[in-house]
Amino acid sequence: MTRTPRILVADDQPDVLEALRILLKAEGFEAATATSPGAVIEMVEHEDFDLVLIDLNYTRDTTSGREGLDLLSRLRDLDPTVPVVVMTAWGSVEGAVEAMRRGARDYVEKPWDNERLLATIRTHVELGRALRRSQLLEGENVRLKGEGVPELIATSKAMRPVLEIIDRVGPSDANVLIVGEHGTGKEVVARWLHAVSHRAKRPLVAVNAGGFSEGVFESELFGHVRGAFTDAKGDRVGCFELADGGTLFLDEIANVRPQQQAKLLRVLETGEIQRVDSSKIRKVDVRVLSATNANLAEAVARGEFREDLLYRLNTVEIRLPPLRDRREDILPLARHFLAKQAARYGRAIEDFTQSARDALMAHTWPGNVRELQHSVERSVLMARGSRIEASDLGLRQREDGSAPMDELTLDEAERLLIEKALERHQGNVSRAAEALGLSRSAMYRRLQRHDIEAG
Ligand SMILES: Nc1ncnc2c1ncn2[C@@H]1O[C@H](COP(=O)(O)OP(=O)(O)OP(=O)(O)O)[C@@H](O)[C@H]1O
Ligand SMILES: [Mg+2]
Repeated sequence: MTRTPRILVADDQPDVLEALRILLKAEGFEAATATSPGAVIEMVEHEDFDLVLIDLNYTRDTTSGREGLDLLSRLRDLDPTVPVVVMTAWGSVEGAVEAMRRGARDYVEKPWDNERLLATIRTHVELGRALRRSQLLEGENVRLKGEGVPELIATSKAMRPVLEIIDRVGPSDANVLIVGEHGTGKEVVARWLHAVSHRAKRPLVAVNAGGFSEGVFESELFGHVRGAFTDAKGDRVGCFELADGGTLFLDEIANVRPQQQAKLLRVLETGEIQRVDSSKIRKVDVRVLSATNANLAEAVARGEFREDLLYRLNTVEIRLPPLRDRREDILPLARHFLAKQAARYGRAIEDFTQSARDALMAHTWPGNVRELQHSVERSVLMARGSRIEASDLGLRQREDGSAPMDELTLDEAERLLIEKALERHQGNVSRAAEALGLSRSAMYRRLQRHDIEAG
């Protein structure tokens, strides 16, 4: 049950207010009224409304709409999420246009048409609520990411060395390279390494080091000063400076271009950075963690990655095994995600059926923990009862005649899964990537590697 929507109506004419109040009440809204801009602000400061409906003129002898427009601006400052609808005199188009420009969601002309007014109000109450909900969720996500450490479920034997290294080198200043397939938990491990270090109270700055085009890389990592590029409006602090005293997490390190590798190496050797276009040298104290799903030794052999940089980064190396090599973790992880998602969606789901557990265990999880997480999340939304059925998991059944998964090479299996996912999603790469637990860029790299045409 959602609570009755509350509407605040403002007009200086008592008969208008009374008519609107009766209309809204009859339609199941709760209506509060105000007769001046000051009263509106006062009320919005102290109470929550789902929508504010305001007239543009408040003093008998004015028709300029100034008061209403000023009120609108103040409302936007006070609470940008509350939808404001304005009432304008019939035929005063400029007033309506100006109001929309200042952030009104809609306008109705006076004298109003009851049905149109109610429809407008209903729409904006709904949209406003959806907007607030999504902002709330985002806020929570940001905080969850920023604060604390994500859970690290690792009961399998294969994960023991990982936990040991975290214990042993976590607290040190050693640079750590984390390698593993997509979705194996590299970022989770990076956050743990930071959290158990003496730098834990200082920032952990994460950056997708492989995602920048020429030129942007330097400014992202080292910062720049005003005018360094035509569109560099002000000074910019780079990731190294932001992470000073803390930890810098360089994700997708294998994708850093050779020229940029040289610059990175220099900074790691000297601990000194220069913002782009600045002669000032700044000392930074940063521990560097990096991650990749590529084989850097091979990249070095091919001449694509500098060996000296690799040795700066991998003082210690952590290898995260793919999920299929730590099957004992599958059910504990699945239960963990189930509890989290059930709480998030307010669903009373306690467990998996035996056949769902079997399906989880039988799957090869090419997208690793992330794929498992997505699959459980989807199943929580799909489940009808208090337990998750195998069919809720949406794991692809093997089709007759196709080679069983465990007889394929890894590459063949990957190719097959990608083709199937594309088929299921009518060639939509984003959706297929999501279904596989891959980022879009990871998907595109694979499409290229397997020479698959999409779209
Ligand atoms: N051991 C684990 N316990 C609990 N959750 C985990 C574990 N490993 C991974 N996850 C969760 O799985 C998801 C993927 O993990 P993460 O982002 O760390 O993977 P990744 O190796 O960095 O993937 P990519 O290579 O695609 O960037 C995250 O939501 C993470 O919280
Ligand atoms: Mg990652």
